[in-house]
Amino acid sequence: MKNYFITVEGVDGAGKSTYLKTIEDHFKNNGYKVFSTREPGGTKLGDSLREILLNDSMTAETETMLMFTARKEHVDTVILPKLADGYVVICDRFNESTYAYQGYAKNVSLDYIDGLKSLVCKDLSPDITFVFDVPLNVSKQRLKKTGKTPDKFESESDDFFIKVREGYHKIADKNKNVKLVNAEGTIDEVNSVVIDICDKFIKKSVLKIK
Ligand code: TYD
Repeated sequence: MKNYFITVEGVDGAGKSTYLKTIEDHFKNNGYKVFSTREPGGTKLGDSLREILLNDSMTAETETMLMFTARKEHVDTVILPKLADGYVVICDRFNESTYAYQGYAKNVSLDYIDGLKSLVCKDLSPDITFVFDVPLNVSKQRLKKTGKTPDKFESESDDFFIKVREGYHKIADKNKNVKLVNAEGTIDEVNSVVIDICDKFIKKSVLKIK
């Protein structure tokens, strides 16, 4: 059975974690071995960097480099070995978060991100990326409902989140492997869209192998 690399993206409060679980369960139910992980994080070093990234202030370029430092360790010691071992690896946030948050919202040059991405990821790129998309009022409402103390990113302005969202739209427009999913509906409605995308992807990939 083929391994796949799937990434899950979206503005804070879009419902990413709920739908990541749907994707995970769907692949498991279809007989795949699944390994889920997240960024920043996924390794001991990555989790330490996550603490710093989500709490400490730093320039946007420093932040970008630290995201990629955590990513380098994650790619080399977790993602690539798991893929080699035949797992479907599902990653909660990956390069597209860096383009949307540091690039489009914090104005780090896209060339700068491109350069770090090619150093860190080389040939690795997701087979499919889900971007869960909701308007600002919905993401704000959902974030509030979690009752969690907002981290550094979640405390950003409305304008920041509008830019992150627009960034994701631009990314999806440029790349056919990036699927923009309207996540405004009920969980059941969004789940059925997610499952449909997974099924089409599995069918297409199985046909390619044959
Ligand atoms: P997230 O994984 O969504 O955390 P939560 O557990 O709170 O749902 O949040 C991590 C934050 O890191 C999120 O606000 C986006 C940010 N981030 C970036 O800005 N750039 C990146 O490259 C990555 C991976 C995350």
